[in-house]
Amino acid sequence: MLQKFDKRNKDIKIWVGKEIVPREEAKVSVFDSVVQGGDAVWEGLRLYKEGIVMLDRHLDRLRDSAKAMHFVDIPSREYIIDAIAQTLRANEMEKDVHIRLTLTRGEKITSGMDPRLNQFGSLLIIVPEYKPPVYDNEHGIKVITSTIRRNSPNHLDSKIHHNNLINNILAKIQSNVAGADAALMLDLYGYAAELNGTNIFMSKNGKVYTPHADACLHGITRGLIIELARELGLHMEEKNISLTELYAADEVFCTGTMGELTPIYEIDGRKIENNSSEKILPKLIESFELRVPKLCIKV
Ligand SMILES: Cc1ncc(COP(=O)(O)O)c(C=O)c1O
Repeated sequence: MLQKFDKRNKDIKIWVGKEIVPREEAKVSVFDSVVQGGDAVWEGLRLYKEGIVMLDRHLDRLRDSAKAMHFVDIPSREYIIDAIAQTLRANEMEKDVHIRLTLTRGEKITSGMDPRLNQFGSLLIIVPEYKPPVYDNEHGIKVITSTIRRNSPNHLDSKIHHNNLINNILAKIQSNVAGADAALMLDLYGYAAELNGTNIFMSKNGKVYTPHADACLHGITRGLIIELARELGLHMEEKNISLTELYAADEVFCTGTMGELTPIYEIDGRKIENNSSEKILPKLIESFELRVPKLCIKV
């Protein structure tokens, strides 16, 4: 399913560097690190009328990612929050907005890989767009398993939320070609890691499982669902999950800021059928919807 263009986003204003400019003027240099090497970190945020969902956790992850990438001048939390607030005010946006927050290593004095060529400081980009959750969360999605493996810490630690998304994009291409909605990516051992843009969970006989956050992004939504499942008194376990276990699961669903909680109804042609008397996902969705407004931070 392809996201549609929302006409309200035609005239949005975007933060680039230190200023807010109309969408068509929002540009980075051809010498910017994100152009030269995908050398940037990012977060996807969602704005509810109560504020930005778990903004504190997203800003922690952005800082941790930038630190791992050895950015030398990470803007302060206060600076980023103020920039987001200014951008939302300039757009008169109050809810139903997805914000793509990117911090690049900035412009280079000449093309090249060496971060010492970055002598102008990092560059902050804030793109706010009207965007409801992107998947059909009522009917769910179907996925196929990709042949592209998700990065392991041996190669590129998935705990860095960086802009070098080629492996996920290649997986997404495979899912497009196969007519599916998303691609399931495995880790180096053949266990499920995550979908190309969301984390994965399954339930079986009333118990909930999700892969260890070794070869997947440690999603903020994932973290909340683990907390909520435990608060509900459910058995919630992080473990290696094979494809056979997923095919035979009672429920499979994915989580992320973009789509929130989305059922998966088919994997590699296998229908996911609930053979237990337990329906866990509706309970988690209810807890999620009750909790999220309380975790919003006004900017
Ligand atoms: C690869 C990948 N997995 C999972 C997620 C979901 O993470 P979150 O719940 O923090 O939005 C994202 C979001 O950007 C992602 O890019």
